[in-house]
Amino acid sequence: MLIKNGLITLEEKVVLKDILVENGRIKEISDEINLDDQEVIDANGKYVLAGIIDPHVHMRDPGLTHKEDFGTGSMACAKGGVTTFLDMPNTVPNTITEEALLNKKRDAQGRSYVDYGFYFGGSKNNNSEEVRKVKDMAVATKVFMNVSTGNMLVEDEKILEDIFRSSNLVAVHAEGEMVAKAIELSEKTKVPVYLCHLSTKEEIQMVREAKAKGLKIYAEVTPHHLFLNESYVKEGSFLRMKPELKTKEDNEALWEGIIDGTIDTIGTDHAPHTLQEKQEKLTFGIPGVQFSLEIMLKAVDGEKISLTKLSEIMSKNPAEIFGLKNKGKIEVGYDADLVIVDLETEAKITNEEVVSKCGWTPYNGMSKGGEVVTTIVRGNIVYNNKKFINKKIGKEVM
Ligand code: DOR
Ligand code: ZN
Ligand code: ZN
Repeated sequence: MLIKNGLITLEEKVVLKDILVENGRIKEISDEINLDDQEVIDANGKYVLAGIIDPHVHMRDPGLTHKEDFGTGSMACAKGGVTTFLDMPNTVPNTITEEALLNKKRDAQGRSYVDYGFYFGGSKNNNSEEVRKVKDMAVATKVFMNVSTGNMLVEDEKILEDIFRSSNLVAVHAEGEMVAKAIELSEKTKVPVYLCHLSTKEEIQMVREAKAKGLKIYAEVTPHHLFLNESYVKEGSFLRMKPELKTKEDNEALWEGIIDGTIDTIGTDHAPHTLQEKQEKLTFGIPGVQFSLEIMLKAVDGEKISLTKLSEIMSKNPAEIFGLKNKGKIEVGYDADLVIVDLETEAKITNEEVVSKCGWTPYNGMSKGGEVVTTIVRGNIVYNNKKFINKKIGKEVM
């Protein structure tokens, strides 16, 4: 495969390059490559970015597949420029036994448009032995330290500590004071912690201080906590999730955290529920994976962050933190996970274009900062010019 005339950023400079792909990997990046035995994609002077890695999605498979499944969820990824997703364990059954993890791995085979990895869940019944056993078969251990969808809360301090000690990396759903607790546990056990979906100024400050002390702490924010706030939440609103939307001041603090490097990654916390479920009762979670790049590009368009920064928090850092080899960068030898985006678009996000089973998006009506034109996974086109290429070539990353 040969991608012609793509704008890429190299050391903060924008350059026009041709990219040669061989056996799913980037073989060469040069000013001009001409070969006539190649499938050619002309990027036509549009930007080519490293594929987006979403470290936080709930694909609902198995057990909750009326909300989403690997097929529909990964289709939403392909349309959104997400070439790898990491899936959370609050499925049915919960991914808290080796058997459940192996079943999930087996069931996902041949069903995903993009690459993927799995979290293993920590359980309130102390499954730390199991955690230790599978720790190299999952991207990280996920622990719920606050109540959320799925009944996976772990409160007992001793059990939390055991789970930390048995893990390579622990991702936590922690809010407010629990963020401090998670940082403390990480300091005590010397096991790095990944703080999911931080949403307040105070939480960002805790992380800033912990990082200054040299602790191995990683922090994630969601696009919805950056772009939306409580002023968007009306009676009966679908905009309910854990953590809840906060204030405009918190939005600003999160952006500052991105700019000064306190925040490492963007994860969507893609948590689809059907329209009916959202209408009938208070259900926490909103979808996100399809529009994370297109919405985050608004911040590039508005000159809040550079394209280099965007690729750092949406591709490079997630690959490094979760040890995804050869992913996250446009570099010779790396997987050809690439997304071509049109930054000149005037398009708006609409519910009609949602491919996730849930059928709606919290960003309906908002303008796109850029539009995904083509998504390539290890040299395979999976989405191009509003059409899916139904090859389901997605593979597990570990
Ligand atoms: O709002 C949420 N929904 N927060 C979570 O932590 C879980 C998620 C879900 O799985 O629905
Ligand atoms: Zn969470
Ligand atoms: Zn989540």
